[in-house]
Amino acid sequence: MSDVRFDSVPVVDPASPAMRAWQDATRLGFGMADASDDALTHWVRDISAIDMRLDAAYATSALPGVTAEWDAPVGTFGSACLSINAGAAPVPALYVFDVTVRTTHRRRGVLKRLMTDALTRAHRDGIPLAALTASEATIYGRFGFGIATRRRGVTLTTLPAPAWHREVEPRMALVSPADALTIRDEVFARIHASTRGSHLRPHTYTTFLSGAWDDDKEAPVAGLRVAVHTDAEGAPDGVVSYVMNEADESVQVRDLLAVDAEAELALWQFLGSIDLVKKVIWRNLSPTSPLEWALTDPRRVTTTGVEDFTWLRVLDVPAALTARGWEADGSVEFSVTDPMGFAEGAWRVTVADHTADVTPLDAAAVRVDVTALASLYMGLVDASTLAVAGLIEGPANGIDALARLFRTAVPPYSLTGF
Ligand SMILES: CC(C)(COP(=O)(O)OP(=O)(O)OC[C@H]1O[C@@H](n2cnc3c(N)ncnc32)[C@H](O)[C@@H]1OP(=O)(O)O)[C@@H](O)C(=O)NCCC(=O)NCCS
Repeated sequence: MSDVRFDSVPVVDPASPAMRAWQDATRLGFGMADASDDALTHWVRDISAIDMRLDAAYATSALPGVTAEWDAPVGTFGSACLSINAGAAPVPALYVFDVTVRTTHRRRGVLKRLMTDALTRAHRDGIPLAALTASEATIYGRFGFGIATRRRGVTLTTLPAPAWHREVEPRMALVSPADALTIRDEVFARIHASTRGSHLRPHTYTTFLSGAWDDDKEAPVAGLRVAVHTDAEGAPDGVVSYVMNEADESVQVRDLLAVDAEAELALWQFLGSIDLVKKVIWRNLSPTSPLEWALTDPRRVTTTGVEDFTWLRVLDVPAALTARGWEADGSVEFSVTDPMGFAEGAWRVTVADHTADVTPLDAAAVRVDVTALASLYMGLVDASTLAVAGLIEGPANGIDALARLFRTAVPPYSLTGF
């Protein structure tokens, strides 16, 4: 790849020409138009808030007769350190954003180089996890990422008005999106601290949910409504942000935060009672949602899709495992196979009182592929299922022990895409 050089772009405010070129290259990769000045201003605010690093690949030569676009990247790669809840205190994780390679430079190892460099830096800096969301499910397994959380989209039919087994006391108030900012941050912080699978939100959520800017529409968010639910003491415990779509008489939920099932049901009963609407659409129902169970007609809820949502890569096995919240006691021995090397090794993991002690070994009979470790780590899938799938190998009793130790009562759930 002598015709490509790699560099990072310093983040300054206002945006430098190199930053604008980086952002436009990313938008080109995702099929969007170049950024307007307003879009760029919001973007700089968003990336500065999370201290995002911008890496880029540049072509070193141009077609004859074509001015060399020295500042237009042919590859982009954003990264920042945020955190993931793995069942205990949030664990630092390198989030990967804005991965694009220009059509003219595909399949020449540009992504491979950008990803390898970023993961190597994170590993060196002691960040135990990396995370991303994927446009295609075939891209990131080769870099050690496995599915961490799934997302289930649903539609609730609300005409005629749904009947419920039980009505929650309606302590709801409508608040302007900008005024709801602090409330939403507080409610999200409670969710992030208590929900296995929760990913900390980048600042783009604040920008969109405050109504300030819709990057897809290149304008402030039109018609965004926010309703807040409070508990019996008056403290906010649920926030739903939505827009009404006149064309198909629907409510499109843009964000639904509830600290527990009681608050979530209150939000659904509110949504189900909005006038002039036939259906409510939400693309990320909680796996522990009471919605279908509370309806006298559970078929009012239809599933519109289930897909992989966040992907995880374990970079430091002992650090990741000791930071995980454990629900069962026990001891297992296993090795991890990692073609990139970061997580390669063998360990004995002994859990007592929800805390793991991790000791290195020379070898172990059970072998776990690093991508499978990601899904196991988050409690998304049982070790025995991954063994049938060919991602874990070893004697049956060792796989059973692994399954028992990693099993969690509820599946992981993330309310954050990036
Ligand atoms: C996905 C994308 C970033 C890949 O970039 P790239 O520079 O062509 O990837 P590389 O050349 O480094 O490929 C590394 C490996 O991944 C494979 N690979 C790359 N993209 C792939 C894809 N979409 N599906 C399956 N395999 C893929 C390559 O074949 C290569 O395999 P190898 O190491 O066995 O030879 C690029 O195609 C792109 O920009 N797509 C559009 C935007 C997008 O979807 N971005 C991802 C957002 S999550």
